Amino acid sequence: PPVALIGAPTDVGAGHRGASMGPEALRVANLHGRLRLRGLDVLDRGNLAGPPNPWTGPVDGYRHLAEVTAWNRAVMDAVAAELVGGRMPILLGGDHCLAIGSITAVANHCRATGKTLRVLWLDAHADFNTSQITPSGNIHGMPVACLCGYGPEELVSLGGHVPAMDTRSIRQIGIRSVDAGEKRFVHEVGLDIYDMRYIDEVGMRGVMQQALAGMDDNTHLHVSFDVDFLDPAIAPGVGTTVPGGPTYREAQLVMEMIADTGRLASLDIFEVNPAYDNHNQTALLAVDLVESLFGKSTLMRRGVDD
Ligand code: ARG
Ligand code: MN
Ligand code: MN
Ligand code: MN
Repeated sequence: PPVALIGAPTDVGAGHRGASMGPEALRVANLHGRLRLRGLDVLDRGNLAGPPNPWTGPVDGYRHLAEVTAWNRAVMDAVAAELVGGRMPILLGGDHCLAIGSITAVANHCRATGKTLRVLWLDAHADFNTSQITPSGNIHGMPVACLCGYGPEELVSLGGHVPAMDTRSIRQIGIRSVDAGEKRFVHEVGLDIYDMRYIDEVGMRGVMQQALAGMDDNTHLHVSFDVDFLDPAIAPGVGTTVPGGPTYREAQLVMEMIADTGRLASLDIFEVNPAYDNHNQTALLAVDLVESLFGKSTLMRRGVDD
């Protein structure tokens, strides 16, 4: 099926400015051309429109809630339109608050079509804060909680079904920064988190085998790729770097193992921030990894699962 690129140029959910330039950075890195080289039919829908970033402080534990809501509604509608049309949406963020709209659309599509949703959340952060426990009020630290039903009414019920997503649908990989209250909360709800300690001990191959286990041909696999997942040594162009992330090789393996499932049905790329980058290297790396996600490999593979 065709893939549709959707730009969402905003940083309203973040604590640093600049992720609003992410969609253009990914286009400059030739995402479109690289996907076409994979044999895909690629449509670039251009950028969504939304309110500017007011750059004000938190109100009742949330920064820019009205603007975050407006952007997420636009994202939800755009992603839903591609899914209804039988195309694979690739959302170009923008900060990670936009995962609320994107995954809400995907989850509603799964309910409507009888698919089973699996979300792979590649990130340094769990993004499971609420207004009560957030250290910042930045909503890009809250999308997973909102999707699971914990958050402000306007975001939690954006798509009309609460919670938008079952907590058991998501697997988080690469996590290495969780705030104190957030840590208690992820344990309380039992989120399935493969943190860096676990990746060190088990290895990325074993982690991915576990995270991808239990899928079948009825599974809709959604990948939410926050590029701060990657080690800052290879991906400096993000607002919230955390040391000790996956290496280039580990990240490639993640993408290749996802590709091998053949179940990828929607993708988001978040938090590419050219203001912190060096010659667009982070967007270029993201595009390189997305090629692997769409099946680029060095050799033909045989018997990999034996
Ligand atoms: N946990 C921190 C916060 O709530 C950082 C969140 C970073 N999230 C992200 N999508 N980069 O403010
Ligand atoms: Mn994130
Ligand atoms: Mn992150
Ligand atoms: Mn589908």
